[in-house]
Amino acid sequence: MSEATNIHPIFNSLLSREKKQEALNQKGIVLWMTGLSGSGKSTLARALEFALHDLGYNTMLLDGDNLRTGINSNLGFSEEDRTENVRRSAEVSKLFVSSGLITICSLISPTEEIRAQARDIIGEEDFYQVHIDAPFEVCAERDVKGLYKKALAGEIKNFTGLDSPFEIPADPFVRIPTHTQTLEESLKQLLDAVLPVIKLS
Ligand code: PPS
Repeated sequence: MSEATNIHPIFNSLLSREKKQEALNQKGIVLWMTGLSGSGKSTLARALEFALHDLGYNTMLLDGDNLRTGINSNLGFSEEDRTENVRRSAEVSKLFVSSGLITICSLISPTEEIRAQARDIIGEEDFYQVHIDAPFEVCAERDVKGLYKKALAGEIKNFTGLDSPFEIPADPFVRIPTHTQTLEESLKQLLDAVLPVIKLS
C-alpha cells in the first residue's frame, strides 16, 4: 500500500499513551458509529460528545460529512472511494486514540469488509463498533437532508441502501434502535455501555 521508501518512523522514546491517559484520567477508545444515512449517527454522536464532556471526559468527534469537506474532500461514493474514506478516517482516529482521547467516529462505513479494515487499522482492543440501527424505510421517511427523495428519483447514484449496499453489522459492541426509542433513551443506552470501558483502571 505504502509508496514511500527510505522512511524511518520513530516508535521509541515518544511520550507514551499511558502517560497521556493518566493525565486525562481516562482510557482512550474509538467508538465507531455505523449506520444508514439518516439513522441518527451524527445526532447521537453529538449528544454523546456533549454528555461525556459534561462528565469531564476529553473527546474528539469525527463525522463523515465533515471529514468529506477536508481530508476526504477528493472522494465520492464508489466502493473504492468509500474504502479510502474509511481508511483515512480510521488512521486519523488511531492518532487521536493514541493521545488518550475518546474518539467518536461517525461514518456510514457500509460493509463488513470496510469496517474490518477500520478495526485492523485502529486495533481490535481500541475499536468499539456501535450500530445505529434504523431501517431503510424509516430513514427514507425521516429524510432530514432530502437525500432519499433525490436518490429515489435517480438524482443521486450509489446511494447507501438503494443502489449501494449496507450490511448490518453481525456483532457490534452495542446496537441502538433509534426508530423505537427516544434520543434520551438511545443516549442512556450508549452511555451505560461506554462509561465502564473508558474508566482508567
Ligand atoms: S461512507 O460510506 O462511510 O464513505 O460515507 P460517509 O463518509 O459517512 O458519508 C455519508 C454522508 O454523505 C452524504 N451522502 C451520501 N451518503 C450515502 N450515499 C450517497 N450516495 C451519498 N451522497 C452524499 C450524506 O449526507 C451522508 O451523511 P449521513 O450523516 O450518513 O446522512
